[in-house]
Amino acid sequence: MSTFRRLNRWSGYMLLLVLTACTGAPNQVSVERVQGAISSHAMVSTAHPLATQVGVDILKRGGNAYDAAVAVQFALAVAYPRAGNIGGGGFLVFRTAEGEIGSLDFREKAPMNAFKDMYLNEDQQVVEGLSTNGHLASGVPGTVDGMVEIHSELGSLTFAELIQPAIDMAINGVVLTHREAEQLNELRDDFRAINNYETHVVRPSPWMPGDTLFQPELAQTLKRIQGSGRAGFYHSTTASLIVDEMQRGGGIITMEDLRDYRSVWREPVVGHYRSYRVISMGPPSSGGIALLQLLAGIAPHNIKQWGFNTSRTVHLMTELERRVYADRATYLGDPDFFDVPQDMLLDINYLNDRFGDINLNKATPSQKVKKGHVEIIESMETTHFSIIDSQGNAAAITTTLNGSYGNKVLVKGAGFFLNNEMDDFSIKPGFPNMFGLVGGVANAIAPGKRMLSSMTPTLVEKDGALLMVVGTPGGSTIITSVFQTILNVIDHGMTMQEAVNAKKFHHQWLPDEIDYEEEAFDQATMEKLMKMGHQLQLRESIGRMDAILRQDGQLEGAADYLRGDDTAIGY
Ligand code: DON
Repeated sequence: MSTFRRLNRWSGYMLLLVLTACTGAPNQVSVERVQGAISSHAMVSTAHPLATQVGVDILKRGGNAYDAAVAVQFALAVAYPRAGNIGGGGFLVFRTAEGEIGSLDFREKAPMNAFKDMYLNEDQQVVEGLSTNGHLASGVPGTVDGMVEIHSELGSLTFAELIQPAIDMAINGVVLTHREAEQLNELRDDFRAINNYETHVVRPSPWMPGDTLFQPELAQTLKRIQGSGRAGFYHSTTASLIVDEMQRGGGIITMEDLRDYRSVWREPVVGHYRSYRVISMGPPSSGGIALLQLLAGIAPHNIKQWGFNTSRTVHLMTELERRVYADRATYLGDPDFFDVPQDMLLDINYLNDRFGDINLNKATPSQKVKKGHVEIIESMETTHFSIIDSQGNAAAITTTLNGSYGNKVLVKGAGFFLNNEMDDFSIKPGFPNMFGLVGGVANAIAPGKRMLSSMTPTLVEKDGALLMVVGTPGGSTIITSVFQTILNVIDHGMTMQEAVNAKKFHHQWLPDEIDYEEEAFDQATMEKLMKMGHQLQLRESIGRMDAILRQDGQLEGAADYLRGDDTAIGY
């Protein structure tokens, strides 16, 4: 029997199945299958073990998937403050046990004093760092309004119950993992430079794994939200603390911006891939439309036969991605401000035409699709979680501060970080954001507008029943990671855990290169790809999926324990 793959440190939840492929033949090859957490009732998969446990506890107490989602979001704001948040925003895609689908947009908005060229100097040049660090980088946060909305429309327990575990965690402290201690230490100088007071995230000696992070001010903020709902954040004390912070640091968010923030229920985008129905997030996320375009482009081809990450498969996926990301840059933005041609982008005739010039043996230089030059800064600071409850209700939430700890501004007296989501706008036509993404008028800054996102919380149905809940952080790589993970299960027959673990690659039109994780391709594949005209660029990590597969009466919760501290727990 071949060697077992490495068991993760949450070995209690991981099940290794060794299946003998066929019957009878003496020299049969054993096929080793790796599965995530298996359960028959309910499952929670998140970026942090404490947040996962909070979700499971809520479900066991009789809460539904949406109660658990609200509780997990607040728990992540405490246990995983680099991406979990109350100072940021995100998207929910849901499907109830009865098959009703919907999505909530609680994406941040540009403050009313924002304007198109606010990050440019007198010479119309981008002022470095202004849209990424410090007070001016923050959009008006949407998370708290989003959680209140989710609870009031879909929840069943009291809001106070859902937020209590986060409050307890903030008071009693969170034990830091190795990764968390390391991140806090790495950003120590930034925290110091950007905040003009002693924050609780900086201390005289470096953080060590096993140290406890106490967040008493965050606990007080959460208590205000617990007591007054959205008013506990968007009015009175918390709002005043945010506005005071803005005034101290030269930011522009006002009391009116906070008072007026509202999340929006939107139609999700829906399409079909082979015999599957795919439900994902529409604008102001580009994720759903781009994912459906990619799936439509792959559907005519038998990639199952071509094989996983073979040069033929990778080449086709890359050529599709190149064109889809060019569309993203041109046509996608906040639908409340820009007339996104959604029907056209998903029209099969348009797509046949768009993909019609793909040569299956030769790369198309991105310059021929459209011009530009960009660099990508690595970041893994969004977070996604997936939940299915015992009734079959499903929630997929991707939420973010954008960069690690957002704009690094810790609101004085309120204990939480603000986002740097303004960088997701196209701050100057053709100028790349921190993920190397470019854009133009569709995603230009305007007061009250939402910045374009790549977040792609997604549900997949088979024969009218829920099959998969997927999503990931990763900035521009979110869309291609979700794309690959779905193909890994549907076409390549992987378990959910294998699909999450599988090495990933990414192309985003500009820069014109295939980014790939180590061991994603063997040497021969790399040589073939280069011969076809592709540039290859090694990248540390792509994707960090937290997903659930519902099949044959059981749930498989797959959390990315290889790339993060992610944990899935079911019961
Ligand atoms: O909305 C977006 O597309 C980005 N703000 C997401 C940022 C992200 O995923 C960061 N890293 N994981």
